[in-house]
Amino acid sequence: MNSYRFPFTRMRRTRTKKFIRNLVKENRLTVNDLIYPLFIVDGTDKKEPIPEMPGLFRYSLDNLKNEIKNILSLNIPAIAIFPKISNNLKNPSGSEALNKNNIVCNAIKLIKDTTSELGVLCDVALDPYTDHGHDGVIKNDYVDNDETVKILCEQALIQTEAGCDIIAPSDMMDGRIRKIRKILENNNHKNTLIMSYTAKYSSSFYGPFRHAVGSSNNFGNKDKSSYQMDYGNSKEAIREAELDISEGTDMIMVKPGLPYLDIISKLNHKFDIPIFAYQVSGEYSMIINAINNGLLDRSVILETLTSFKRAGCSGILTYFAPTVSKILNEDN
Ligand code: PBG
Repeated sequence: MNSYRFPFTRMRRTRTKKFIRNLVKENRLTVNDLIYPLFIVDGTDKKEPIPEMPGLFRYSLDNLKNEIKNILSLNIPAIAIFPKISNNLKNPSGSEALNKNNIVCNAIKLIKDTTSELGVLCDVALDPYTDHGHDGVIKNDYVDNDETVKILCEQALIQTEAGCDIIAPSDMMDGRIRKIRKILENNNHKNTLIMSYTAKYSSSFYGPFRHAVGSSNNFGNKDKSSYQMDYGNSKEAIREAELDISEGTDMIMVKPGLPYLDIISKLNHKFDIPIFAYQVSGEYSMIINAINNGLLDRSVILETLTSFKRAGCSGILTYFAPTVSKILNEDN
């Protein structure tokens, strides 16, 4: 083992110059790794700033087209759509989720009329549509699993028929992947992709998002820990992944991102399936506020996103997608 010792081995040799650092680099982020979550809102002529997420906006559909062109020009491969609907459309069962002309379906159609290149991902969950802000319907003070799954299947089908490419159930109900896959197959949507929110933790990092979609309005101090995972657990993430894969998901996701890199790494070693991370709203807000206040350099964006690749991710959902695409394009 002598040859491993100093001075035969000097770890710094491969760090001396940029060319060699580039040659030995194990993981790099490319624009192709990015999914951009985008907020939409009812009405016209709106581009509303989201105060909790500086630099981001909610777009009304008439303004969406321009933003889509912007995203296309940056070569971002896919977006995820999140709606903020008006309170008068919300009710306990989230029935607006099943309206074929709801804002999400109309957004998908508009995007698909504009371009066939951009992949569209849609959340399957009821929280933007329920007046209580939970992801499902409530029975006896409990988010009812099986009743909720029935509605989610319909929601997934409606979004698919509007043209959605990737169905992303974010609700954490049991058994929903199998039922959604079944309804898609039964309706001849054989190539619709499913990216399951597999290990979605009950997290305070979702706070800014809940403001952005208006689901925190009546949510108060309630939490989602009767369906989202406990952050103390990791074996449970493996069981969730086993189930989702056996039920027919094409990809799995871990959420939030940075505090859960260990989970991504574990799943990556255990399963041969593409893994995605969601760098969530709270992570975005922390980083952007630190950058805007001069506390951190903007290079932390690339550093955090590359760490997801290192942990084993195929790609990342990130609000930094446009910013980092510009950084990556400048570098090339
Ligand atoms: C809804 C959903 C949430 C996020 C994505 N889909 C919030 C929640 O579960 O309360 C969070 C995304 C983010 O914080 O950026 N089921």
